[in-house]
Amino acid sequence: MKLTLSVIKADIGSVGGHVAPSQRLLAKIREYIGERAPGLLLDYFISHTGDDIAILMSHTRGEGDSSVHKLAWDAFRVGTETARQEGLYGAGQDLLKDSFSGNVRGMGPAVAEMEINERPNEPFLLFAADKTDPGAYNLPLYLAFADVMNTPRLILSPKMSRGFRFVIMDVSDTSEDRIIELNAPEEMYDIAALLRDPERYVIESVWSRASSEQAVAVATSRLHNIAGKYTGKDDPVMLVRVQMDFPATGEVLAPFAIGHFVAGCMRGSHQMPLMPVTQNTGISYFDGPPIVSCAGFCVHGGNLTEPVDNFAQSFWDTVRGHVADKAIEMRRQGFVGAAMLPMSELEYTGIAEKLKTLQRRFGVRAPMYQ
Ligand code: F6R
Ligand code: MG
Ligand code: MG
Repeated sequence: MKLTLSVIKADIGSVGGHVAPSQRLLAKIREYIGERAPGLLLDYFISHTGDDIAILMSHTRGEGDSSVHKLAWDAFRVGTETARQEGLYGAGQDLLKDSFSGNVRGMGPAVAEMEINERPNEPFLLFAADKTDPGAYNLPLYLAFADVMNTPRLILSPKMSRGFRFVIMDVSDTSEDRIIELNAPEEMYDIAALLRDPERYVIESVWSRASSEQAVAVATSRLHNIAGKYTGKDDPVMLVRVQMDFPATGEVLAPFAIGHFVAGCMRGSHQMPLMPVTQNTGISYFDGPPIVSCAGFCVHGGNLTEPVDNFAQSFWDTVRGHVADKAIEMRRQGFVGAAMLPMSELEYTGIAEKLKTLQRRFGVRAPMYQ
């Protein structure tokens, strides 16, 4: 059957800073979606990662469906009321527009969707990250879908050997969707040349070249592109189909053991390692570290199983220790050089004003020696 998986997420307020939503807020979102799901959704699942709430929905209405998007938008608006009543910090933070105009794209919430031909067994993964941006998924996806060192099935499975098509977006273009399509393995170096810059070039989707089926959908929105100023990091969600003609679950998870450096943490302005965490984890050290959770599901006739928590297994405790060491080491460097993001990323933040004022105070001194 043709099935659509949609995940829409937003930060609409949290307890004790930008840490985690309250239980009351989560309950409100669950109640709102639960009451309106019959007749619209086949199934749904609600979780949080850091201060972001993700609503995963299965349905048959296709991508960008206004009723499905409106349901999530309205749930976040009603949730914002609860957040205000409770006095949660940053209530309504990601709802950047007042009125709904058919689709949540460009309104603040992040969205990842794909319409698929549901396989008899359809395992897929829901990734949700906090305190970072969509480019955080570039390296793990490149390794999982193009690098045989990470994914031996690229040479073991004839269908996987035909490779994958990467759709990459230039997110610096705020007026239109500027994309390029590149094929692995032939164009691997071109793909790598773009993915080197994860603040500008972001993988939006990945497709099997053997079956033309979509394997990956990433939420590519950049909040500062919408708001024109810093309002919080984009905290991207991602859907990945796994097994058979796609990489195995373990091959998609493996790159997250690196704890690679991503943009994020304090005021979204730093470079810090990405820590794989269990679902419903909050934020802590230095408003971070940037975290990513992964819930694994099977979907059958649109019905979701309960999730497996893929980063809960004890293997990941060692990874978390390694990532914590990297984070502490980077923080010893404070504000200097590689510890912070380049100016192009900071120009939406307060430091731009400070530097402008200081520029005016610079003067040219007469040469001391002739
Ligand atoms: C990053 C983030 C936090 C805040 C920081 C300051 O995405 O959410 O690091 O930027 O805690 O928050 P405000 O400006 O709300 O005091
Ligand atoms: Mg927040
Ligand atoms: Mg967040």
